[in-house]
Amino acid sequence: MAERKKVTLNSLFQKASKGEPISWLTCYDYPTAYLQEQAGIDMILVGDSLGMTMLGYDSTLPVTMNDMIRHTQAVRRGSPNAFLVGDMPYMSYQASSEDAVRNAGRFMAEAGCDAIKLEGGREMADRIKAIVAAGIPAIGHLGLTPQSVAALGGFRLQGKGAAQARKIVEDATILEEAGACAILLELVPDRVCKLITERSRNTLIMSLGSGPDAHGQLLIYHDMFGLYPKFTPKMAKVFGNAGEVILEGLKTYHQEVKEKSFPAAENYFGMKDEEFEELTKSL
Ligand code: KIV
Repeated sequence: MAERKKVTLNSLFQKASKGEPISWLTCYDYPTAYLQEQAGIDMILVGDSLGMTMLGYDSTLPVTMNDMIRHTQAVRRGSPNAFLVGDMPYMSYQASSEDAVRNAGRFMAEAGCDAIKLEGGREMADRIKAIVAAGIPAIGHLGLTPQSVAALGGFRLQGKGAAQARKIVEDATILEEAGACAILLELVPDRVCKLITERSRNTLIMSLGSGPDAHGQLLIYHDMFGLYPKFTPKMAKVFGNAGEVILEGLKTYHQEVKEKSFPAAENYFGMKDEEFEELTKSL
């Protein structure tokens, strides 16, 4: 495969200006990052969704900065060239701009990120400003924001009515003015996403379940491949059922161990007769 060039903020904006949609996926580990790198995925998000998909929590709230840094480092090792985004976990930025800058800085210095993402609208504008002022590209996240899922009434469409949609549109402008290089719109109606994309001047608008009219698309990797056992959201397309393939393989392994057909001769190593004799004599 031809050597891949590093994806930068500049190259992302160039794609957007040419009308080339940007591909973005979540990723939490080295082998998956390696595959995403080979597939040429433009952007990778190490989402705090790893709390649910990798660590088995019921929400993203228990995830810590140290969890995020460890997984992000592994992803960077697997994908040196994708534009890597670290997701700020719960309470790593809500309390103060100082916390926000310090923790965003950890993503850049310890995990080799290209940008960070945080959830929230106008109430987070000063956090975005402070992070950007520290020289760190910041991505906003509007619509369904999983860290506030209880306040939002569950995992459901946001901005269905005109008043709530207007707030999301205004928030997008406020985050753009605060310096966000991109904004993720999660689970908002397609027309709201289109409107925000048309209004944006210096900010990439990315869609997760918000329709086609954005500068790019994000999906949760585990939803794409049937790897999250609890549910698959409507917005996710299953591109292949790896979960089923893996389960079949596990059942076969279990069966073969029980009936002693695994391991076969090609799965282990022998030893020369004279070496084995010497070994047994010496015991
Ligand atoms: O944590 C995550 O993966 C996210 C997505 C839901 C956008 O923030």
